[in-house]
Amino acid sequence: MKETLFSGIQPTGELHIGNYLGAIRNWVALQETYDCVYSVVDYHAITIEYDAATFPARIMNAVIMLLACGIDPRKARLFVQSHVPEHTELAWVFSSVTPMGELGRMTQFKEKSEQHRQNVNAGLFTYPVLQAADILVYKATRVPVGEDQVQHIELTREVARAFNARYGAMFPECQAIVSKARRILGLDGKAKMSKSLNNYLGLMESPEAMWEKLRVAVTDPARKRRSDPGNPDVCNVFTLHTFFSPPGEQEYCAKECRCAGIGCIDCKKILWKNICAELAPIQERARTLQADRKSVEDIIADGARRCAITAQQTMCEVRHALGVRW
Ligand code: TYM
Repeated sequence: MKETLFSGIQPTGELHIGNYLGAIRNWVALQETYDCVYSVVDYHAITIEYDAATFPARIMNAVIMLLACGIDPRKARLFVQSHVPEHTELAWVFSSVTPMGELGRMTQFKEKSEQHRQNVNAGLFTYPVLQAADILVYKATRVPVGEDQVQHIELTREVARAFNARYGAMFPECQAIVSKARRILGLDGKAKMSKSLNNYLGLMESPEAMWEKLRVAVTDPARKRRSDPGNPDVCNVFTLHTFFSPPGEQEYCAKECRCAGIGCIDCKKILWKNICAELAPIQERARTLQADRKSVEDIIADGARRCAITAQQTMCEVRHALGVRW
């Protein structure tokens, strides 16, 4: 019996290389070892302002990108969160064992309520409770995420402990699997790469659009002129090389940067070539899937059906433990 692993991603409209390196690339590799459940978490995404008219396209796009990146529906269950309503039902149950104080400590809540001051709603506050339900409705023990989600996984363990203490042992204490690319910085070299900060490279961007962004990406801030030696250890472009470039080219760039043998533009061109080479087949597969919506719809329906079997079983146990069924 393989251990169960769960992870989720929000349908932001455009997935970026931060999502790809921090999560998706890892998800693909983990499919071989674990019983994987991957979700496009649409109900999480409604906690901030969004356009309902374009939401279906965003959800569909996220599913397509996951498939294009290599999530294989024969190996993993891939589904849309709202299609399995047990997630929200369990979230309600969990909200009754989660202390408000714990939720108030969440960094993501603090950041998001700062970013969306005009709409600090209860959903934003209880967001990690739904996340705990996503994971625990499958009794998953492993959760591959980037660094920003680790606090939510810790909270998930606390929710499981609180539930078990009150109603009897039911849920495991899950562990985060944090990838080497735990926090990819944006092209500004400062903040975490994210859609909302517009400092990202999108997975579907054309080579030309990517170059326009990479060309002006921040490098070693101390390297002002082409003739100045640079320091790859503090250069975000070099960090990206470590994830996209073969070892020989990484070494070449680091060595030539340190002695001003190459300039930042030369270094960026090599990175650009390697990013484009990795993303080209993904983009190709995404275009094929975009033209074949029926197959994607079938994959989503089948994923929901297979997830519902486990989720319904868990909720049956939960309702009995709570005493709302006898
Ligand atoms: P989301 O949609 O913001 O991000 C999806 C995944 O991508 C990772 N990530 C990054 N990793 C490294 N560097 C970055 N710049 C970067 N940006 C994003 C995130 O850490 C995440 O792993 N709350 C979650 C979604 C969720 C979930 C879950 C995750 C809902 N339920 C249950 C795990 C388990 C979120 O907003 O991820």
